[in-house]
Amino acid sequence: MARRRPGPVGRRPRGRQTGWRVAGLDLSAVAPAAAAQRHRGPAYLQASVLSLPLQSSSFDADLDRGCFHYLAPGDRPGYALELHRVLRPGGRLLLRASLRSAGMRNDIDEDVILAAFAGWRVELMQRTRIPSDTRSLDVLPVRLTA
Ligand SMILES: C[S@@+](CC[C@H](N)C(=O)[O-])C[C@H]1O[C@@H](n2cnc3c(N)ncnc32)[C@H](O)[C@@H]1O
Repeated sequence: MARRRPGPVGRRPRGRQTGWRVAGLDLSAVAPAAAAQRHRGPAYLQASVLSLPLQSSSFDADLDRGCFHYLAPGDRPGYALELHRVLRPGGRLLLRASLRSAGMRNDIDEDVILAAFAGWRVELMQRTRIPSDTRSLDVLPVRLTA
């Protein structure tokens, strides 16, 4: 999550010349701690995306790089509402939804995205395969506006 203005969460990001202030969040304690070791600057939080410890309308952009497909189908609409809550009006979400879970094709497709993010404006949604560290990932990148 990122915002251009100062606020209670987030310190100057690594690329301070960008002017972005960044907060990174994961359910596990390990991921934020590891990220903090590697990249100083952003604020790192251990929390669930289903209940963000962040002020409403406080972020310009959200980035989901691999979390959406971890959520139970019934949690997806609540997740979208929570992301919408913390974004300022007109804020952006870049979602990289994985089409596989544990190596198997999961249920995620365009209809699932449209249902979860009903009311958002979809700017782009196109399946693709991207290189990862050790393999290729089948993903559905989606760019949305709150
Ligand atoms: C595929 S990893 C992606 C990690 C990282 N975002 C990245 O880009 O490398 C998915 C992560 O989602 C986290 N996750 C799953 N459910 C979550 C939830 N409800 N709230 C926050 N994080 C969650 C997991 O702990 C895991 O670290």
